[in-house]
Order: sequence, then structure tokens, then C-alpha cells
Amino acid sequence: MELFIKWAVCTSLVLIPIPGTDGSIVNFHKTCICASNIVSCSKMNLTTVPSDLPKYTAVLDLSYNDINRLRAEWTTYKLPKLHNLLLSHNGLHFISTEAFVYVKDLRYLDLSSNNIRQLDEYIFEPLGDLEVLLLYNNHISQIDRTAFTGLSKLQKLYLSQNQVSRFPLELVKDKTRPEKLSLLDLSSNRIKVLPIQDLQDLPAWLRNGLYFHNNTLICDCELYSLMTYWYIRRLNSAVDFKDDYTCILPGPDKKILHVFELNVHMNCSTYNESVEEAFLEQSLVLKCDTRHRNMSKTWMLPGNVEVSPGSNQTAVVQPDGSLEISPVKLEDSGQYTCFAVSKHLNETLYVWVKVHNFTLNVNSETLNTAYTTLVGCLASVVLVLIYLYLTPCRCFCCPGQGKSKNQHEDSIHSSMLSATPTHEDLATKAEPNRHVAFIDPKDLQGQNGKVNRTGEEELEDEAKHGKGKRKKSVSDSISSVFSDTPIVV
Ligand SMILES: *[C@@H]1O[C@H](CO)[C@@H](O)[C@H](O)[C@H]1NC(C)=O
Ligand SMILES: *[C@@H]1O[C@H](CO)[C@@H](O)[C@H](O)[C@H]1NC(C)=O
Ligand SMILES: *[C@@H]1O[C@H](CO)[C@@H](O)[C@H](O)[C@H]1NC(C)=O
Ligand SMILES: *[C@@H]1O[C@H](CO)[C@@H](O)[C@H](O)[C@H]1NC(C)=O
Ligand SMILES: *[C@@H]1O[C@H](CO)[C@@H](O)[C@H](O)[C@H]1NC(C)=O
Ligand SMILES: *[C@@H]1O[C@H](CO)[C@@H](O)[C@H](O)[C@H]1NC(C)=O
Ligand SMILES: *[C@@H]1O[C@H](CO)[C@@H](O)[C@H](O)[C@H]1NC(C)=O
Ligand SMILES: *[C@@H]1O[C@H](CO)[C@@H](O)[C@H](O)[C@H]1NC(C)=O
Repeated sequence: MELFIKWAVCTSLVLIPIPGTDGSIVNFHKTCICASNIVSCSKMNLTTVPSDLPKYTAVLDLSYNDINRLRAEWTTYKLPKLHNLLLSHNGLHFISTEAFVYVKDLRYLDLSSNNIRQLDEYIFEPLGDLEVLLLYNNHISQIDRTAFTGLSKLQKLYLSQNQVSRFPLELVKDKTRPEKLSLLDLSSNRIKVLPIQDLQDLPAWLRNGLYFHNNTLICDCELYSLMTYWYIRRLNSAVDFKDDYTCILPGPDKKILHVFELNVHMNCSTYNESVEEAFLEQSLVLKCDTRHRNMSKTWMLPGNVEVSPGSNQTAVVQPDGSLEISPVKLEDSGQYTCFAVSKHLNETLYVWVKVHNFTLNVNSETLNTAYTTLVGCLASVVLVLIYLYLTPCRCFCCPGQGKSKNQHEDSIHSSMLSATPTHEDLATKAEPNRHVAFIDPKDLQGQNGKVNRTGEEELEDEAKHGKGKRKKSVSDSISSVFSDTPIVV
């Protein structure tokens, strides 16, 4: 059949309007219906994409057919005007990696309700203008980390009702996410574990459209805390599907619970509003983390003093709507209010600031010392093992023993070099070099990594193990320390 039926479409027929049908034309072969630049071939039992598509086609509807494979040569010439391609309900299970090279101007691609099982590397790369991608109700279990690379204008991605088990963090993380993404639907999949800290750090306008209800999440109090916070912020993802957020209780009977009821079952504490802490003479940036992008924002200082440009206030509203206070003074403590207004939404956000009566440098020095001490202590343990207890351990350096700073340093060195006893004096003299002596290159990067951008990944890994907070405050300015902290309503 396929061979001798020529899927000629509209081209030669455009000039033969059928009277009384508003200019729409049914072609002789009854394959497609054309309405100027719309070509609709829905429910036509097609097994391949019709050839001879007119070059002016803007919308091509191929839904409800039997096109199982989208080959590279489904079109052999460019369709520069095509911006909507609908391929849902086709039993599609193969998509060539070159399927989209001639339709680079697509803005809307519907591949939902098919049999797609995996998304290969760079599969959508040519689609630099794509804004909406529908992939729900397939059998997708594998998503290559580069599958969505190149989709720089993507705004909405629907991946629900698949078998995804890995949270595609690359779609939401700062440097890899499509810049305009505002909706990512991962609901009804098989995700067990969420990168909770990474999610909490996302801007509210992204969390607002990040749906992951009806997955196979494992219950824990962090999940409860995350969801209750999102609910308090009235984020759509949490509010609209409140009852569909379920999780599986670890244990033999795998009981399914509602996430919002976990406090009853697991004794989770409710969300506690966090306070931005600051140190004297640093600069502090308060984010106005609104649920929508692109709102116009005004700030009130503690005591309801409006922040206005041109006055000699130390607090200045930045172009992105955040409030920078520099330098921080003791009297800057208190409650800040951000009013955000847009056509669709008005929001009021509160941020509490507590300024400590000391500068960060002092604090940084003590932390540094504690860190060096710890590393030194570990190094000496290793050395002791290496020397097979040839010399007695003289490690007095473990923190919290009430020694003064200098005693710490000395004891690190003496224990470090205890294999050769005469070095005790030398060690004291060599004090300025102590960091170099004890910290291996990896540790050095850990301490300074925040300064160069490439170290960030590592810091985030460490943050999961509870070390990140301290290291951040050691190495960077106050503004970046607090820029990640969520703002409180
Ligand atoms: C498609 O196939 C079904 C069953 O084979 C048939 O009933 C239906 O009429 C066909 N539709 C078209 C538009 O040919
Ligand atoms: C939840 O997901 C399962 C499969 O992942 C699906 O069968 C079910 O319909 C979904 N339920 C809701 C309420 O979406
Ligand atoms: C819940 O926590 C409270 C206080 O933290 C404790 O007194 C209580 O025993 C806990 N209950 C359960 C069931 O763990
Ligand atoms: C919440 O914060 C307040 C003060 O900020 C503190 O007193 C209280 O203990 C905290 N509650 C929990 C459960 O952490
Ligand atoms: C809002 O968005 C539009 C287009 O996306 C942009 O041109 C405009 O500058 C934005 N306004 C603000 C206040 O960011
Ligand atoms: C500028 O600051 C001084 C003292 O800090 C204050 O007396 C004065 O009123 C301020 N001027 C304005 C316009 O806010
Ligand atoms: C936001 O507030 C302004 C006045 O403060 C009001 O005019 C406007 O209608 C409000 N917009 C929405 C969406 O509520
Ligand atoms: C801040 O600390 C310094 C010394 O550490 C002290 O002299 C000063 O009175 C303190 N200021 C306030 C407001 O507590």
C-alpha cells in the first residue's frame, strides 16, 4: 500500500478551494487536511510521514497514526516555517538522532503517548528554538545527560508518566539548565531519591513549576521539610498536587504515606524559618526570591523605612531586585520586607537578618585554625602508623581541649614531625608555612575552591556531607555565603 499511494499533500491543490469550506482544502487522496499553513494528517492510519510537505507548513499534525519510526529522511529538505510538530499517539519507538536537522525552527514538539524508551545523547540538539517539549506517557527509563543539550530556549518540559528513576539534575542546575525553563514535570515516574539540597537552592520561580508528585520517593524528614516549606511559600507544584505527594516508608511492608503527614509517622519537626546571619563590615545580599520571574521589587528596612534610590542608605536595591547592604552594621539586624508586583501576582516576602558583633575575619581565622588542626591531627595519626609506633604519640592537637591558638600550632608541628625529635624548634620557626606542610592539594582546593568556579561542584558534594557550610564561610565573602539561603515568607 505504502509504496503506491503517493502521499501528495496540498501543494498542487492549494489553488482549488472547495466552495463553502472557508478556504480549507481536502486533498484528493484524503490524507491530509490543509488550512493555509496548517497540515493536519491526524487519524489517517499513516505508517510514514507524508512526503512532499509544503515548505510553508507551520503546523504539522501527525497524531493518532501508526508512525513507529521517525527516520532521518522523513523530510529530505528544510521546513523553515515549521514551528509545531505533533506526533502523539503513534506507537513511536525510534527517533533518529538526525530526525530534527531540517526542522530547526520548531517551537512546540509533541511526542507524548508513544513507546519511546530512552532519550539518546544530543537527540534534541538541533532544536535551539524549542519552547515546549511533550514527552509524557511514554516508557522512558533512560535519559542521557546530554539529551536536552542545545535546548537553550526550552520553557516547558513534560516528562510525567514515564519510568524515569534518576532525577535529571542537569535540567535545573544553574549552569546547565535551559535559561528560560519554568516548568519541569517529573510526576508519576520512579524517582526514589531527590537531590534535596540542590532543589532547596533553586530560585522559587523554578521550584514553583517543578512537579514530582506520585513518584516512588523514600520517606524521610528532609522530604517533609522540603514540601512543607514549598507549601508555605504557596508554590504551585506543592499546592496544586498536595494530596498526590506520596512516599514509601522504608521497611519490610513498604507502606505508602502522604508526604504532608510524615510528621505524624516519623516525628519530623515542622519547617523553621531561617535567619540570615551576617558579620560586621561585610556586604550582605538579600534575595527577593519570588514565585514568578520578572517582578518589580521594592524593599523596606527594619522599622518600615523604604529603600529609595538616591538617599544615602547603605542598603541599595540591585538591578535583579535583590538588596545589597554594605557595609553591614550592627543596627542592620531585623526584619526586611520585599514587595514584588507583576501583572499576575503580588507577593510580600520577609527576610530576617541577625548581625553578629564581630567581623568575619576573626571567625575565619578560628575556623582556619580548627581546620588546620584537624588535618594536622589526621596527618600525625597517619605518620604514627607509618613509623609503626617507633616514637610515642604526642598528639595534643585534637580540637576542643581548651588550648590556645599558639599551642595548637606548636603541637601540630611537633606531632607531625615527631619521628625526628630534634625538629621541635624548627617546626616553630617554620610556622608561616604550616598550611603548605599539612594540606594536600585536594584539601587546598577544598578550602579555596569556592573562589574559582570549578571548585563549586566539589563544595556541593561536601555540603551533602555536612561540611560545606563551614568551608564556604572560611573562604568566601559574606554575600556568597548567604546568597544561597532561602528567603522566608
Ligand atoms: C484506519 O483503519 C481502520 C481499521 O483498519 C479503519 O476502520 C479506518 O477507517 C481507517 N481510517 C482511515 C482514515 O483510513
Ligand atoms: C501514579 O503513577 C502511576 C504509575 O507511575 C500511575 O499508574 C497512576 O495513574 C498515577 N496516579 C496519579 C494519581 O497520577
Ligand atoms: C518525637 O520527638 C519527641 C521530642 O523530640 C520525643 O519526645 C518523642 O518521644 C518522639 N516520638 C517518637 C515516636 O519518636
Ligand atoms: C525554631 O527557631 C526558633 C528561633 O529561631 C528556636 O527557638 C526553635 O527552637 C527552633 N525550632 C526548631 C524545631 O528548630
Ligand atoms: C521582563 O521580561 C521582558 C521579556 O522577557 C524583558 O524585556 C523585561 O526587561 C523584563 N523586565 C524586568 C523588570 O526584568
Ligand atoms: C545622610 O546620612 C546622614 C547621617 O548618616 C543623615 O543625617 C542624613 O539625614 C542622611 N541624608 C539623607 C538624605 O538620607
Ligand atoms: C497588586 O497590588 C496593586 C496595588 O498594590 C493592585 O493594584 C494590583 O491589582 C495587585 N495585583 C494583583 C494581581 O493582585
Ligand atoms: C561589640 O563588641 C565590642 C568589643 O567586642 C564592644 O566594645 C561593643 O560594645 C559591642 N557593641 C555592642 C552594641 O554590643
